[in-house]
Amino acid sequence: MTQYSSFANGGITLIKPYQAGKPIEEVQRELGLSDVIKLASNENPFGMSQMAKKAAFEAIEQGNLYPDSNGYYLKQKLKSKFGYDPERITLGAGSNELINLLFEAFVNRDVNVIFPEYSFVVYPMETTVNGAEARAIPLKNYCADLDAILAAVDSKTRIIAFANPSNPIGTAISSKDMYNFLKKVPKETLVVIDEAYNEFNSGDDSFEDTAKWLDEFENLIVSRTFSKAYGLAGLRVGYMLANPEITSILNRLRAPFNVNIAALAAACAALDDKEFLDKTVKNNTAERVRYAEFCKKNNLFMIPSFANFVAIDFKDYDAQQIADRLLHMGVIVRPLLGYKLKTILRISIGTPKENDRFFECVETILKDMKN
Ligand SMILES: Cc1ncc(COP(=O)(O)O)c(C=O)c1O
Repeated sequence: MTQYSSFANGGITLIKPYQAGKPIEEVQRELGLSDVIKLASNENPFGMSQMAKKAAFEAIEQGNLYPDSNGYYLKQKLKSKFGYDPERITLGAGSNELINLLFEAFVNRDVNVIFPEYSFVVYPMETTVNGAEARAIPLKNYCADLDAILAAVDSKTRIIAFANPSNPIGTAISSKDMYNFLKKVPKETLVVIDEAYNEFNSGDDSFEDTAKWLDEFENLIVSRTFSKAYGLAGLRVGYMLANPEITSILNRLRAPFNVNIAALAAACAALDDKEFLDKTVKNNTAERVRYAEFCKKNNLFMIPSFANFVAIDFKDYDAQQIADRLLHMGVIVRPLLGYKLKTILRISIGTPKENDRFFECVETILKDMKN
């Protein structure tokens, strides 16, 4: 037999495949359940905006044509909504694609990449795939330790990557701290602030629009997605903001037509649907408080969350066991064994009804486990 793995480039064989949340249909099929809810992939519990849906259906009428490879209208919409310069925007099939491209463009065996411990799994994966040294810096009070990260930077540090708010932990660095941090990072080191969950903090004074610092910090890169608060995870669309030189590199590297016609149209319309976004954020903020109350009542520890999910520490209990029991009750959540966090579950915040079901199921399980 030919060993094709030995022909694969770089560190591809060193990484484990990405573990996605189980789809609802799979759980229904495998466990013979009809009523299943998914609180595992940080998706929007209200589906997608009706305006975005209509725009996507209309765009599909033109599905025989290639999409606009440069995403002119979406870039113009981002300019009119937020003032972002199209010269600084790269569009991707989800922000994940853009993070991959950035690493492919800049990371190699001669450099290192720094990220906080328990970061979004794609950062260590892409570091390894591209042959670089990964430096995972332990958290301080569940938060990125900016001083320790700075101390780990050397002349070979090509990228520092943060998710802010972080995933899977959910904590966030305030704009003030982030700004002071950026001032201390050498210009040769790119700082990627991955803001997949950024909208869930709108209204909180501790967080400003980081993109307004792009002029001041030429090494700053901001990544955003339409998958979470905008509810377009299945359509795959995100954008990356960076200086024009980096943007031009990413645009050269990306596949032509990487963002499909329905996704481009839906993203434009979603940016106009303020009502849907407000409803999403409002529900999330209110339900996050209910999760905190639930944890307090049941003597569980909830890590303070700034995202659309919560990480709950079940302390003496094995989180995987709880996740398995929940699965059999039709509730899909995300254990964090891949991160070696054996007692923590990550739960995406759902509608009030979905969250009630989670609370009831967990109380039943805890009662059983205590007996
Ligand atoms: C921190 C973070 N960044 C990026 C992504 C990728 O999202 P998408 O590719 O759907 O834009 C995710 C998805 O869960 C995430 O949690």
